Amino acid sequence: MEIIIKPNAAEARLETANLLRRQLDRKSDSVLGLATGSTPIGVYALLVGMHAQDGLDFSRVRTFNLDEYVGLGSDHPCSYRQFMEEHLFGRVNIGVGNIHFPNGLARDITKHCDEYEAAIQKVGGIDLQLLGIGRDGHIGFNEPSSSLASRTRLKTITPQTSADNATCFGGADKVPHHVITMGVGTIMEARQCVLIATGSAKATAVAQMAEGPITADCPASVLQMHPRCQLIVDEESAGRLKRAEYYRWVYDHKPEWQRCGAAPKAVAAGSRS
Ligand code: F6R
Repeated sequence: MEIIIKPNAAEARLETANLLRRQLDRKSDSVLGLATGSTPIGVYALLVGMHAQDGLDFSRVRTFNLDEYVGLGSDHPCSYRQFMEEHLFGRVNIGVGNIHFPNGLARDITKHCDEYEAAIQKVGGIDLQLLGIGRDGHIGFNEPSSSLASRTRLKTITPQTSADNATCFGGADKVPHHVITMGVGTIMEARQCVLIATGSAKATAVAQMAEGPITADCPASVLQMHPRCQLIVDEESAGRLKRAEYYRWVYDHKPEWQRCGAAPKAVAAGSRS
């Protein structure tokens, strides 16, 4: 895992957005796995700016979002589909037919989850999966105890996650308990994973995922097994990393062509970690 510590959240977001931009520059019909939540909002705002100012093209990009609440239609104001519409899809030139989302109103959820997996396979798999992390170490909605081999399926979120996601719903008790989420195994099959975390509330989860044991108790820890994974953090969320000095040194001494923030055309190949 490549661990990139940026001085603040704004720089962590810029690093992440540049990495996504380089992916689209390399492959205009990239398949992106996308996350919702408060952390990627600023990343999407930067991508929208790159689209508006530099013509970053989304017309051939295909997307698969990680998760959706069961019981919410795609037009529900608190659905993740609406979140993506507000922060990215409605503000760039992505084709609506290229957007894939778990359907929170699916009648046969098991069948729908199998179809979601099949749709990912049909386009050749996910090139780059953007991730956030929950305070309990979840990725997607794979809460602690999720199988590290799991596929897209129905899950029940924890009371802590309900509380963390309560704002749109006007209270934790109003947050749907059930969600459809890509599985940990599904996420691990992406060719590249990029996890962004900011703020001191994520410091424990970040340390556990990067330096703790690989365990279903912290589902994100399985990313230690991913052959190409970047963890991009600000100083606050890096606060509990034991080897922070070493990660900073590695990043500062990276060859220029490997840098995430390097101008896209100067990059000969992605970094492997
Ligand atoms: C949502 C998702 C979640 C969030 C996580 C962090 O699609 O994938 O795993 O990334 O709950 O959420 P924020 O960014 O709101 O702290």
